[in-house]
Order: sequence, then structure tokens, then C-alpha cells
Amino acid sequence: MLWVAAGMLAACAETEPPATETKREIASTNTTHEAGKKLFFGKCASCHMVNKELTGPALKGVRQRWPDQQKLYAFIRNSDSVIQVDSYAKNLWLQYNQTAMTPHPDLTDEQISQILNYIASVSE
Ligand code: HEC
Repeated sequence: MLWVAAGMLAACAETEPPATETKREIASTNTTHEAGKKLFFGKCASCHMVNKELTGPALKGVRQRWPDQQKLYAFIRNSDSVIQVDSYAKNLWLQYNQTAMTPHPDLTDEQISQILNYIASVSE
């Protein structure tokens, strides 16, 4: 009797919820990835590539260059406000010939995080 019960449990565990959960997770990851890619190409790619310098720096590894993520998000929304108060941002701006980055005040935290995740996912 015990063997039969154990066998049935094992069969359940193999086919039931976990499989559907995984599928759902992959689907939502793909949607997020697509959203980040779309935002990146729509708003950033005119000046940035991920793995190569363009008008602006290559964005590969950018999260690691900003110990304060709030400042990074603020910079993406309005670089000027951060250049005023942060020496790393100011030096970068001087290094890039004082080229102003287009402000993106409309981007939500979620959208910025999608862009940064997209960048991380295609970094070489
Ligand atoms: C008009 C050109 C332009 C556009 C569009 C632009 N950037 Fe920039 N970005 C720059 C320049 C130039 C710099 C270098 C710093 C400076 O000059 O202020 C920079 C710097 C950055 C940095 C800091 C890089 C580092 O190495 O620390 C991040 C992060 C960044 N941009 C993200 C973005 C994101 C995300 C978008 C799209 C939402 C975007 N940028 C759109 C020109 C641009």
C-alpha cells in the first residue's frame, strides 16, 4: 500500500503545478525582456550601445559603476540634476565633452529596471 501511495505522489509531483509555473515564469521574463529591448532601442540606442562606445559610454556593467542605484535612476531621468551633485557623473559628463543626455522624466522605475535588465542580458 505504501509503495502505491508513494508512486502516485511522485507521479503528481512530476506533472502538476511546477511545470505550469515554470512556463508562466518564462513567459513573463520574455515580456519583460521585450519591453526593455523596445525601450532601449526607442530611447537610448541613438547614443548608446551595450558593448561599444558611441556618443555615450558602452552601457555594459553600468549598474556596477553606480553604487547608489537611486542616483543611477535619477541620472537616466535627468542627468543634469545628478551632474550638479555627484563627482562621478560630473567627470563622465566632462569626459564626454559635456554632451547632454536627453532627459527621460517619463520613465518609471519599472521601465528603467527593464532597460537595465535588457542591457545586462546582452552584455558580452
Ligand atoms: C542624446 C544622446 C543620449 C541619449 C538619447 C541617451 N544617452 Fe545616456 N549618456 C549620453 C552621454 C553623452 C553620456 C555620458 C555622460 C554625459 O555626457 O552626461 C551618457 C551616460 C549614460 C549613463 C552613465 C554611463 C556610465 O558609464 O556610468 C547611463 C546609465 C545612461 N547614459 C543611460 C541611458 C539610458 C538608459 C538611455 C535611454 C533611456 C540613455 N542613456 C539615452 C548620451 C545619451
